[in-house]
Amino acid sequence: IKKIGVLTSGGDSPGMNAAIRSVVRTCAFHNIGCVGIYRGYQGMIEGDFEEMGPRSVNNIVNKGGTILKSARSMEFKTPEGRKKAHENLVKAGVDALVVIGGDGSFTGALLFNTEFNFPVMGIPGTIDNDIFGTSHTLGYDTALNTVVEVIDKIRDTASSHNRLFLVEVMGRDAGHIALNAGIGAGAEEILIPEEDLGLDRLLDSLRKSKAAGKTSSIVVIAEGDKIGKTVFELKDYIESNFPEYDVRVSVLGHMQRGGAPSCFDRVLASRLGVKAVESILEGQSNFMVGLLSDKIVLTPLELAIKGHSEIDLELLRVSDIMTI
Ligand code: F6P
Repeated sequence: IKKIGVLTSGGDSPGMNAAIRSVVRTCAFHNIGCVGIYRGYQGMIEGDFEEMGPRSVNNIVNKGGTILKSARSMEFKTPEGRKKAHENLVKAGVDALVVIGGDGSFTGALLFNTEFNFPVMGIPGTIDNDIFGTSHTLGYDTALNTVVEVIDKIRDTASSHNRLFLVEVMGRDAGHIALNAGIGAGAEEILIPEEDLGLDRLLDSLRKSKAAGKTSSIVVIAEGDKIGKTVFELKDYIESNFPEYDVRVSVLGHMQRGGAPSCFDRVLASRLGVKAVESILEGQSNFMVGLLSDKIVLTPLELAIKGHSEIDLELLRVSDIMTI
C-alpha cells in the first residue's frame, strides 16, 4: 500500500474532521501518501482529490462538520459511476480507501471492493449510533450533549409557564439519542421506535405526573418512533384529552449534527483513524473499526451494516424510576 484515500459520506457528524486528521497523520507516520476525496463518492467519480499531509489538517480537531464535505451520490449506485471512480483512484495512485460514514456509505464501500477487489476500511460516523460493532459512532456523544444542553434551556421556559414540551430529536430509525438524552435531561417520557409505549401509556403517564404535583414536563420523542402521529398531531391529541395542558412542540433538527466535537468524540476519532490505517497496512479489508468495551476492534462491514445496534431497554426502566 502506497497511498490511502479518505472520504466522508452521508450525513455529517461532529468528529469527522478529527477522524480525517487521524487518517492523514497516521499515513504520514507510516510514510505513505494520503489523498482527501471531496464530497464523498461523488467526488471520487469526478476526481475531486487533494494530496494531504500532516499540515493540511491543522486546526480541525475541534471543528464540527467535515472539511472534505459530504454528499449522498446517486451516480455511485450505478456500475458506470463506480467504474469512473475506480479509474480516478488508479490514476491518482490510490490503492486503499477509508470511508467515514454510516451504513449507506459502507454498503457502497463493500460493493466497490467486490467489483474491483479494492481494499476498504470503514469508520462509523453518524450521530444516530445505529451501527453494529461499536458502542459509539462518531458524533453521537456530541449530539447527546447538544440535545441535553438545549432541553435544559427548554426546561427553563417550560417550568416558567407550567407547560408540557414535546421535543423531537433525530436518530433516523433508532432511539439512542432520544433515550440517553432523555434520561440526561430528565424527561418525563421518552418515545423510541424500539419500544412502542402506545398512546394510552403516554396519557396515563401524563395523568400520573399531574397527580404527583408536577407543573411542567418534557417528553422526548425520537423522530422514528412508532406512535403513528407527528409531534404536532400528538400535541393536538394531548390537548384534546387534557385541556388543562398547555403544550408546545420543539423539533430540534439539524442543530444536533453541528458544533465542536466533545472530547470523547475527538479521542474516539483519533483512535479509529489510527486503527483504520494500520489495519489496511496489515493487509485487512472490508472491516469497520469500532469501539467495544473500550477497545478498538474490527467488525466485518457486512455485519456492521446488517447487524442490529441493540438499545439497552433497561434504560427505559431507569427513566421510569427517575420520573416517579
Ligand atoms: O443520519 C443522520 C441524520 O441526521 C438522521 O438523524 C436524520 O434522520 C437524517 O440524517 C436527516 O437527513 P438529511 O440531512 O438528509 O435531512
